[in-house]
Amino acid sequence: MSAIPVDQAARLRHLMGGQAASAASSCPQEGGLRLRCARIIAIASGKGGVGKTNIAVNLSIALSRKGHRVVLVDADLGTANADVVLNVQPRFDLSHVIRGERTIDEIAVTLDSGPRLIRGASGLSAVADLGPNDRQRLVEQLALLERRCDFIILDCGAGISQNVLAFAQAADELLVVTTPEPTAMTDAYALIKVLTRTPVRPSMSLVINQVGGMREAEMVAERVAGVAARFLGVCLDVAGHILRDEHVCQSVRLRRPVLDSYPRCPASTCLAALAERVGSQRGQTQGRPGFFRRLVGFFY
Ligand SMILES: Nc1ncnc2c1ncn2[C@@H]1O[C@H](COP(=O)(O)OP(=O)(O)OP(=O)(O)O)[C@@H](O)[C@H]1O
Ligand SMILES: [Mg+2]
Repeated sequence: MSAIPVDQAARLRHLMGGQAASAASSCPQEGGLRLRCARIIAIASGKGGVGKTNIAVNLSIALSRKGHRVVLVDADLGTANADVVLNVQPRFDLSHVIRGERTIDEIAVTLDSGPRLIRGASGLSAVADLGPNDRQRLVEQLALLERRCDFIILDCGAGISQNVLAFAQAADELLVVTTPEPTAMTDAYALIKVLTRTPVRPSMSLVINQVGGMREAEMVAERVAGVAARFLGVCLDVAGHILRDEHVCQSVRLRRPVLDSYPRCPASTCLAALAERVGSQRGQTQGRPGFFRRLVGFFY
């Protein structure tokens, strides 16, 4: 994502505006074959329950509606629940691919709202037990996915577990979700701090969720990004903010994404703006090895 310093309040308003080339249009070609062009965006947080799954689900839908091919990966090992929010029940997950029982296409569920959903994290630690040939076969199978879509959105678990760090490091971009709660902000900072110490790190941006208005979003962004700049030397971007909106809670109860059930409510407007911004930016995938190759490497 492009660098937008957050120590200037006016910058946040600027976030809703930018337009650039679509991700799909920047896909490199080699010998007529399309190389990896999927942008891998992980959505994580320090504190749990700040809104990652809702953001991941609705961002995936909004990007899909804009014509992008999107795969949403539920990468939360502990409390995988994107399928609950979406009211679908995938029969298979990545562990079936790892065991060679299913292909990647067989485990992906195509949602009515556009994106494909993969239950991701379960069984990944079993990769460590695979022999080199099986591991190579797995990586090749997963690499197919990256060549066939524009975005892979990873809904990660909360905190700084090994799984979360593996997904975050393997991604191209990381959206760190926080709310105005002090504990959410300090835990977001803790996640950012751990990632700045790892040898490989994605480009990081903040998403401020459950804010009462623009002014509160600016204050949260200034506080988290200010501390990150001062103590970690990291310049954080702000990807967007989402208003606190009872329609989100109602949608969860209905088991429908808020973009479907209340497309014009305040939270949906913010989510659409977030997707507009994310979708209009040029990704940084070229020159990096495949996401799944990197991810499998972290577990091996
Ligand atoms: N913008 C919002 N406005 C109002 N409520 C919200 C908003 N975003 C999220 N919520 C509420 O927060 C709850 C938790 O959201 P969600 O499940 O997306 O969080 P999470 O970060 O994925 O949690 P976990 O860490 O357990 O995976 C939702 O069920 C909803 O009630
Ligand atoms: Mg979640």
